[in-house]
Amino acid sequence: MDTYFQGKVAIVTGASSGIGLATARLLGSLGAKVVMAARSYEKMKELAPSVGPEVLCLRTDVSVEGDCRRLIQETVARWGRIDILVNNAGLSMRAMFKDLDLSVLHRLMDVNFWGTVYCTKYALPWLLATKGSVVGVISIAGYSALPARSGYSASKYAVRGFLDTLRIEHLKDGLHVMVFAPGYTASNVRNAALTADGSAQGETPLEEDKLMSAETCAGYLIEGLRKRRNAMTLTALGKATVAAHNLFPNLTDRLTYGYIAREKDSPFQ
Ligand SMILES: NC(=O)c1ccc[n+]([C@@H]2O[C@H](COP(=O)([O-])OP(=O)(O)OC[C@H]3O[C@@H](n4cnc5c(N)ncnc54)[C@H](OP(=O)(O)O)[C@@H]3O)[C@@H](O)[C@H]2O)c1
Repeated sequence: MDTYFQGKVAIVTGASSGIGLATARLLGSLGAKVVMAARSYEKMKELAPSVGPEVLCLRTDVSVEGDCRRLIQETVARWGRIDILVNNAGLSMRAMFKDLDLSVLHRLMDVNFWGTVYCTKYALPWLLATKGSVVGVISIAGYSALPARSGYSASKYAVRGFLDTLRIEHLKDGLHVMVFAPGYTASNVRNAALTADGSAQGETPLEEDKLMSAETCAGYLIEGLRKRRNAMTLTALGKATVAAHNLFPNLTDRLTYGYIAREKDSPFQ
């Protein structure tokens, strides 16, 4: 019987959908006390029984510093400790930078980057006390840039830089810091992605049923937590992209251009 997560207190941001919900459910099934954080409070309350017997739902907009502070305070008030923080809440986009309202780029940074920074800042003393884990769910786009996702790639590169720094700062303190990069995973992320004017895209250009499931993705995240991995990159395409970006950056730019040019309603058309 796997007891690693038994009784641990784990916060998952963006737990109302997709990878976050699947992660919360796996942690709950392994005996963790789970805090679900997202904006959709009613939805989380409905989903909470599927996560486990010890679940706390907290309405949190991670782009609001006060919400993140309260998330940590209320977790500690309930359970007195924090062992795991999964910074998963995230937002994508799809528009060429030349057409982009700058408010979209601000929003992407506020949710993806600042949301991670705020939650990590307030949780850090508690995570240091337990020699716990902090995770940033980034993306392959946080290693190898994706056209028409300038704000998304920039925010995910930024999270990686932030967390890689934090790991070195606390190398001798027993803190586990993992940068977790899923490949394409079936979820609501492309429907919710922002277009040039900040409205939601409302559809996906990909065949979602052919992508990795959120449950499989969450399984890898759990494995990374248990093995205290520093970084994980998922899917064959994702691993090949990161390797190619490092070894042959110019070629990878051209291949990435071609890949996105073939996408449904490509931004290059
Ligand atoms: N799916 C993929 O292909 C893929 C690939 C690589 C990386 N990722 C990353 O994986 C993470 C999870 O995405 P997903 O694919 O599972 O997408 P999803 O199904 O759209 O879930 C996104 C989650 O983030 C939450 N969220 C969004 N804005 C928020 C805010 N301001 N404050 C708090 N929560 C917020 C949403 O909840 P509310 O709307 O209720 O707030 C939702 O629970 C993201 O960081 C994403 O960038 C996804």
